Formats: sequence, structure tokens, C-alpha cells
Amino acid sequence: MENQKTKKTRILSGMRATGKLHLGNYFGAAKGMVALQSRKDYETFYMVADLHALTTPFSPKTLSQYRRNVMVDYLAIGLDPQRSTIFFQSMVPEHIELAYYLSTLVSVARMQHLPTFKEKVKQYPENVTLALLNYPVLMAADILIYQADLVPVGIDQEPHLEVSREIVRKLNQIYQLHLPQPRRFKTSGDYVPSLNGIGKMSKSVPGSFIALDDSLAVINQKIAKVPTDSGRGQIQLTQVDKKAGFQVTKRYFDARTNQESVGVGALMKLVELFMGEAKRAAFEHQYQAETLSYNQLKSQLAQAIFAEIEPIQRKKQSLLTQPNYLDEVIAHGAEKARAQAQITLKLVKKAFGLLN
Ligand code: TRP
Repeated sequence: MENQKTKKTRILSGMRATGKLHLGNYFGAAKGMVALQSRKDYETFYMVADLHALTTPFSPKTLSQYRRNVMVDYLAIGLDPQRSTIFFQSMVPEHIELAYYLSTLVSVARMQHLPTFKEKVKQYPENVTLALLNYPVLMAADILIYQADLVPVGIDQEPHLEVSREIVRKLNQIYQLHLPQPRRFKTSGDYVPSLNGIGKMSKSVPGSFIALDDSLAVINQKIAKVPTDSGRGQIQLTQVDKKAGFQVTKRYFDARTNQESVGVGALMKLVELFMGEAKRAAFEHQYQAETLSYNQLKSQLAQAIFAEIEPIQRKKQSLLTQPNYLDEVIAHGAEKARAQAQITLKLVKKAFGLLN
């Protein structure tokens, strides 16, 4: 791996250790991360972003559980320490050091105007800290320190990647370096709808997500709560002008009230993801023919979702009985990551005039 003669495409990604992984993380990012590690021409670095978890209110006790839980989830979904470098961000302190150097290239105003920053300010008005403002700079350091080319993350992270590219361009220009500009790597099933029908599944919206840990009973309960309608439905196709091009979306309307049924839209999308397109078409047909049973749809969907995550849960249970193995993976990952991180850090320190 240390051999630089045949340069592989570098991949880096991470998830914030702020809660349990859910289906949105799984389809939006994690499945792609697993797929990428089996490509011979790619070198994959996957971290648990525990330092980024400090940018919003946290408790030390839950943080220490969450970060280990994300690590176990990573392994349970199939990230393989033989093929990927899997590590805790905080165990590679070089990230923080690089973030400081990079912060000299970034204006406060640029950070304050980021939509992601503004959102967090709204969400936690009492917690507008320097660490929060610095979030994108630390993320740029995470990526640059491995000289990563591709970053598999959701579309919501695009503003942060743009900041990373701006930083690289400045760094290269001012200090004559040749670091690559990272691009977002789009993964297939990008979008898992929220159970309340509004937006996507999100850790910070209770009742919106199904966790990878949820039992069949819990999944049934959660799906049962998805709002539906009279079952006398109409479907409308609309073209949405997305950044990535035109996209056709379906909207579902209750013919009795003419109200949009966003919950039905979420259910149909989930059916497609977990039961296939043909099943979605069949349910849609029933919806329009007024023969759809929501009870049936919901219980079949809950079963299909559980079937997908049950093997992950079993793997997780078995990992939890092997704490020594886990500790080994964690130590080994940090060691591998640090070896790479130190190379870039040295380069930057030298460029800044901090090494003779
Ligand atoms: N900001 C990312 C998120 O919320 C998490 C993250 C931190 C990350 N550092 C990263 C993702 C570096 C990719 C690369 O999802």
C-alpha cells in the first residue's frame, strides 16, 4: 500500500458520530463505501468523524458510545479492515494540525455564509462556537490530508466540498503544491425519504428514520405511523429542476380532498427501494383503482426492510462479543491512517516554512 509508483484513486469518507446509523445513511453513503473498497484501483479511507461531533451539543458519555457504535456499524455493513483504512478521526491528531494551517486561507465571512452553518445556528442558537464555524475547514483537512480524489457523501455536503476545493486551489497556488481537488462521488440510492413524508431521513428529526438496529416490531410501529389517505388516489408526474438535471417525481393526491399525500409518496419510494420497482407499480395501480390496503402494504414493507438489515444486526451482535478484535482494528486503522497523514502534513509544514 505504501508503494506510490502506481497511484491509486484515493477515497475518503466519514460519518459524524452523533447517533445511530439509519437507512438514509446506509443507502445514501454506506452502501457506496462498501462497494468502493473492492475496486483494485481505489484506495479507501473511512473514518468515524468524532471530532465533528463536538461542533454541536454533546455529552461525553453518549459520544463515547456513539463513536464506537459507528465503528461497529461500519464493520457490520461490510467495511473490511483488510481492504480499507478504518479509523477514528480523533486518533489521527494530524487532522487538527492541518486544519489550523488551512484556516489561514479561509475568511470568517465565507464560513458564516455557508447554508450548513446557518442551519446549525438556527438549530442551536446557544452553541455558535468557533468549532462550528471551523467545521468545513476541519472537513477539508480530513480530505486533503489523504490527498483524496473522491468523497462519497450526500448532496447536502456539496457546499463543504466546494470549500475544500477552494482551499486546495489557494494552497496549491500560494505554496506551489500539487494536491488534488476532491470531487463528490455520487452513490446510487441517494435518497431515502423521511417517514413523515417531508424531506429525507435524518438523525436529528425523531420519527423520521428507521435505525439499522431497529427490530421488526419497532419497524412495524414506525411504518404504521406514516400518514396515509383515504386510498382513493391520483398520481401526478412533475418535472423537478435539480442541479444535476431534470428529474421526474411522482406526487400522490387524495382524490377526495385534493390534498397531497406526502406519506404515501414516502411509502411508495420505500417500497421501490426495498421491494423493487415492479412492486411499487403494482401498489400504485391499486392506489388508483381504490383497492389498496395500507395495512398490507405497510406490513409487507416492514418485513422487506427488516430482511435487508437483519444480517447486519447479526454481524453486529457477533462483533460486540469480540471487544479485543475491535480494539485491534481500531489501533491498526489509526496507525495506517497516521502514516499517510504525516506525509501530507510534512509537505504543508515545509511549504509554510515550519520545517527546515
Ligand atoms: N460532514 C460530513 C457529514 O455530516 C461528515 C464528515 C466529516 C465527512 N468529515 C468528512 C464526510 C470528510 C466526508 C469527508 O456527513
